Amino acid sequence: MMLNMTLTTAAPFAVYVHWPFCLSKCPYCDFNSHVRHGGVDEARFVRAIEAEIAATAARVPGRTVSTIFFGGGTPSLMQPQSVQAILDAIGKHWTIHSDVEVTLEANPTSVEATRFRGYRTAGVNRVSLGVQALDDAALKELGRLHTAQEALDAVAVARGIFGRYSFDLIYARPRQTLESWRAELKRAIAQAAEHLSLYQLTIEPDTPFFGLHKAGKLAIPDDDLGRDLYDLTQSICAGEGLPAYEISNHARPGAECQHNLVYWRGQEYAGVGPGAHGRLNLDGRRYATETEKRPESWLMRVEGTGTGLVVDDKLTPGETADEYLLMGLRLAEGIDPERFTQLSGRTLDPRRVSILREEGAVETTASGRLRVTQSGFPVLDAVVADLAA
Ligand SMILES: C[S@@+](CC[C@H](N)C(=O)[O-])C[C@H]1O[C@@H](n2cnc3c(N)ncnc32)[C@H](O)[C@@H]1O
Ligand code: SF4
Repeated sequence: MMLNMTLTTAAPFAVYVHWPFCLSKCPYCDFNSHVRHGGVDEARFVRAIEAEIAATAARVPGRTVSTIFFGGGTPSLMQPQSVQAILDAIGKHWTIHSDVEVTLEANPTSVEATRFRGYRTAGVNRVSLGVQALDDAALKELGRLHTAQEALDAVAVARGIFGRYSFDLIYARPRQTLESWRAELKRAIAQAAEHLSLYQLTIEPDTPFFGLHKAGKLAIPDDDLGRDLYDLTQSICAGEGLPAYEISNHARPGAECQHNLVYWRGQEYAGVGPGAHGRLNLDGRRYATETEKRPESWLMRVEGTGTGLVVDDKLTPGETADEYLLMGLRLAEGIDPERFTQLSGRTLDPRRVSILREEGAVETTASGRLRVTQSGFPVLDAVVADLAA
């Protein structure tokens, strides 16, 4: 893939590649993921992704790619040569930074772990595994196709092959107690290297869990227990050297996921594949892009027109600034109020900032950044709404 490599310190530019297929649909998940029992014409989808890369590069040429992320769906269902072909296309149309971070999301089944070495050879240097739980009954309830032991085995394979790996756990699950989560999290941290993503279970509309929850057949921790589970998560992880750098993401300092930081810092990224989002800087303005979500409709669009774009909106300065707030306040490092002013042409309302500060929800750092405090994070949406209004 390393066709045009550079050591420059250009502004970060990320490429997100969405692979929309899974072996089965987990009942809590509302990601753009689809099951195709009849199989997938992988080579055709890969050609279409290559075409979208070419079309995007024609709009934003000359970028230096600092991070690439294969997300899904389940990208670990792709053959390594497909990943290689997509990386080659990225390297053909843009310059690849010599320190590029290339992450692939993987489901921790043994079959998928057999492909890890191929991904490494293709240029992937970081994997993110969807472990979700270290409890077989919970995994079954979550509709997962792997056991806790299989997940840990996949983590061990990842550890042996990739320099960097992370895994995801979902907490605040049905019947979960503080004691059981404490034990599970500690077990997980013992297997983690530098990064963990820890998500509170959310009941998403239009999922089987939503129906079960509404019918009273799926009880999840109430707000108080949810809050206690969150606080426990923060204190255990911080104590183990894995503080939260984002509301749900923990890393040893220096091991943060550079790709996701591009989103949260309001930097530039291209999104290719079905249902991918992008943010492109063109002629001094920021464009929000989105491709067709349904895989086969996306394929037909790309084959017909060279792109699957269905949204290509020029954001107003106010929208760009609000997005910067919304994303940036998820980070422990917070936001730069000066940048907010440059983007929006207005300053953050000092009265609102000082009320939130008095309430203990935000604080200003010594360098002048504004960030949400530990007690403000559980009410982050309200904080953002208050500042953006
Ligand atoms: C695109 S998905 C994962 C990729 C991969 N297919 C997998 O399942 O392992 C990214 C992560 O979002 C989290 N997630 C998805 N739906 C969620 C929900 N309703 N509540 C909390 N976390 C969720 C899971 O931890 C999942 O690993
Ligand atoms: S959680 Fe992962 S495997 Fe399950 S449906 Fe969503 S994307 Fe697919």
